[in-house]
Amino acid sequence: MDITFLLNGETVTADVAPTVTLLDWLRTRRGLCGTKEGCNEGDCGACTVMVTDDHGAQALNACILFLPQLAGKAVRTVEGIAGPDGLHPVQRAMVDHHGSQCGFCTPGFVVSMAVAHLNGRTDHDDQLAGNLCRCTGYAPIVRAAQAAEGAAVPGHMRDDPGRIEPAKEGAPATDAAPATADALAAWYLDNPDGTLIAGATDVGLWVTKQFRDLGKVAFLQACTDLQGIAVTDDAIRFGAGVTMTRVLEAVADDYPSYAQMIRRYGSVQVRNAATIGGNIANGSPIGDNPPALIALGATLHLRRGDVSRDLPLEDFFLSYGKQDRQPGEFVTGVTIPRGRTAHRVYKLSKRFDQDISAVCGGFDVTVADGTVTAARIAFGGMAGVPKRASSVESSLIGRPWAPETVKAALPAFAEDFQPMSDMRASSAYRLEAARNMLQRYLADLSGGDVDLRRITA
Ligand SMILES: Cc1cc2nc3c(=O)[nH]c(=O)nc-3n(C[C@H](O)[C@H](O)[C@H](O)COP(=O)(O)OP(=O)(O)OC[C@H]3O[C@@H](n4cnc5c(N)ncnc54)[C@H](O)[C@@H]3O)c2cc1C
Ligand code: FES
Ligand code: FES
Repeated sequence: MDITFLLNGETVTADVAPTVTLLDWLRTRRGLCGTKEGCNEGDCGACTVMVTDDHGAQALNACILFLPQLAGKAVRTVEGIAGPDGLHPVQRAMVDHHGSQCGFCTPGFVVSMAVAHLNGRTDHDDQLAGNLCRCTGYAPIVRAAQAAEGAAVPGHMRDDPGRIEPAKEGAPATDAAPATADALAAWYLDNPDGTLIAGATDVGLWVTKQFRDLGKVAFLQACTDLQGIAVTDDAIRFGAGVTMTRVLEAVADDYPSYAQMIRRYGSVQVRNAATIGGNIANGSPIGDNPPALIALGATLHLRRGDVSRDLPLEDFFLSYGKQDRQPGEFVTGVTIPRGRTAHRVYKLSKRFDQDISAVCGGFDVTVADGTVTAARIAFGGMAGVPKRASSVESSLIGRPWAPETVKAALPAFAEDFQPMSDMRASSAYRLEAARNMLQRYLADLSGGDVDLRRITA
C-alpha cells in the first residue's frame, strides 16, 4: 500500500507491505542508518524518531511503528535534527557535557531530548526513561538536557504535516485504514478474522519478535472519532484510540494516583503510541489499566456492525485469553465516573520505570461514619485475567475501616487468588504483595506517606 508522509521535511511516498516497520524501511530502503536497532521491541529507545501530527510532536519507537501508522504525519529522524545552522542545541550540549561514549544509544537520546526541548519539557528523568544507555551513564546526558533548556527551538523542528504534497497515484490499497468508526465497523464485519492495529505496542512485537504474518489488517489511527475524550460533571469517556499519554493528562486532576501509575507505564515513546482500547482489548492479565478502571467501576463500550453495547469492564475478561467479544466486534471506548476521591492504584514491578507489573492493584473503598459501605478492589498479575478481590471486599464491607478489619481480611486474598509463579514474581510473593497493598491503601487514606521514593530508613 502507498503511504505518504513528511520525512525530514520532504514529502515521501512509500509503497510497502502494511507490516513493514519504520525502522526497517529507514535503514534498508532509505539508507538512514542513524536510527538504531537495539531491542526491536520498544524497550531501549535506540530507534526513537519524532512524529508530528494533530497532537503535536512526539517521540515514538520506530521499531514497532508500521509505515501505515504514519500516513499524513511528519517524521523526523536523527539525520534531520541538525539544521542548516549546524548542530541542534541538544546535540551541542551532548558534546559539551560528554553525553556519549560508544554512541549507540546517542541518536535515540538526541531525538528524545530534541522532542522534549521542542515541547518545553524539563522533567528529563521522565522524558528519557525510555532511552537506555549502557556505558555513559545518565548524569552527563541529563546535564546536557538541562544545559539546552533555554536555547531557542530551531525553526526546522516545527514540522507541518499540512504541507504534504498530494500523493502520487499508486496501487489501490488492499489493507484498510478506515477513517471513521462506521467504516471500521463495516470492514470488521466483512473481515472478522482480520487484525486491528491501534498503537501496535503489542502487535508490533508479533511481527518483530514472533515473525507472524498478520494477514488482513486494519489500522485504527485514522478513526479520529475513536480518539475523543469527553468530560462531563460526572464522567470521563475515553475513545478506544486515546493514547496513554493523553489518558495520563486527562486523569491527572481527578485521579493523581492513577496518573502516577501511568507515568510508569512503559515509557514516553510507548505511552505516545499505546491506546487505552488496545490495553483492554488485548485481554492481558498484566495490563495496567484494567485494575485501575475496574476499581473505578468503569463501563466498556463495544460495537459490532451497527449494534453497540455496554458492560461493566470486569465482565469483559472471561478467562485467560478469552474476552466477551464477538467476531467483528471492537472496543469503542471506556467511561469512568468522576469524584471517587478514595481511588488509588499501586504498581509493583522489578524496575521502577519502563517495566511490566508483577502485581498492579486498584482500590476504591467507600467509608461512611467510619464503616465500610462499599469496596471495589481489583488486581492485575494475580490471575489469568484482571480480577476483583470479591472475598476481600466482602470481608471489609460492614466493618469499621481500621487496621483490625484490614488484618482480618488478609486471609481472604488466598480465596480470591491462586497466582502463578513466573519470571516476574513467585505465587507466594504476589499474594504477599497484594496483601501489603491493602495495608498500604489503609495507610495512604489515613494520610501516611506511602510513596516509596520518599520513604527513607
Ligand atoms: C516496551 C513496552 C512497554 C510496555 N509497558 C507496559 C506497561 O507498563 N503496562 C501495560 O499495561 N502495558 C505495557 N505494554 C503493553 C502495551 O503497551 C499495551 O498493552 C498497549 O496499551 C496496547 O495498546 P496498543 O494501542 O498499542 O494496541 P495494539 O498493539 O495495536 O493492539 C493490541 C491488541 O488489541 C487489539 N485492539 C486494539 N485496539 C482495539 C479496539 N479498539 N478494539 C478491539 N481490539 C483492539 C489488537 O487487535 C491487538 O489484539 C508495553 C509494551 C511495550 C512494547
Ligand atoms: S530498537 Fe529498542 S526501542 Fe526500538
Ligand atoms: S553511549 Fe554507549 S550505550 Fe550509551
